[in-house]
Amino acid sequence: MKDIISTLKVLEVIGIREIYLEKREEVSLAKTNTKEESLKKLFDSYRDCTKCALHKSRTQVVFGDGNPNSPIVFVGEAPGEEEDKQGKPFVGRAGQYLNRKIEEVLGLKREDVYITNVCKCRPPENRKPLPQEMGSCFPYLRRELEIVKPKVICCLGSTAVEGILGKKVSVTKVRGKITTYPYDTKIKVLITYHPAFILRNPKADPQFVEDLKKLKSLAGL
Ligand code: URA
Repeated sequence: MKDIISTLKVLEVIGIREIYLEKREEVSLAKTNTKEESLKKLFDSYRDCTKCALHKSRTQVVFGDGNPNSPIVFVGEAPGEEEDKQGKPFVGRAGQYLNRKIEEVLGLKREDVYITNVCKCRPPENRKPLPQEMGSCFPYLRRELEIVKPKVICCLGSTAVEGILGKKVSVTKVRGKITTYPYDTKIKVLITYHPAFILRNPKADPQFVEDLKKLKSLAGL
């Protein structure tokens, strides 16, 4: 503040009576929000979202959850029945499996990582979200990731890969692969199975464990 006052005094001395402040200056002088505050602002901005038809059948918007200072963000597809009821991502059967693996393999608690979804509202009958639904939610997901700025994004299943990388893939073929997030190439992206897939195909469990070990190392844990 002292610097600003001295600068203004100098300007006054040399005869400048008015100055025009660009938006950039205002932003740099503004108080910096914590990640928690920025996320709250973001969530408040879309808790009544009606950009796609999913708002008609949802109970509530399901925001991301967990520690926004974590180096790891898990991204899933969309809330299911239990998530829609409780308003938290991954709290159903798939979520319980994921929590167990976070503890066993990463040595962390669920609250230590950040978990979110490509779509924030439950699609009817848990169907895959439509491209228009994913597109409506994308600005929220992008801003969420910009705020959290993790070291690694772990894509759980093909919808997450589509949402994060904008590509359709066969997860069976690309699981374990590491790439970068197109909107911030300092962030690594690791692809793995969706926990619900492993519940249906328990033989994939060792591969999921292998991928989580990779995730742990990418996150520097
Ligand atoms: N499946 C998902 O992709 N996300 C959830 O939140 C729950 C189940």
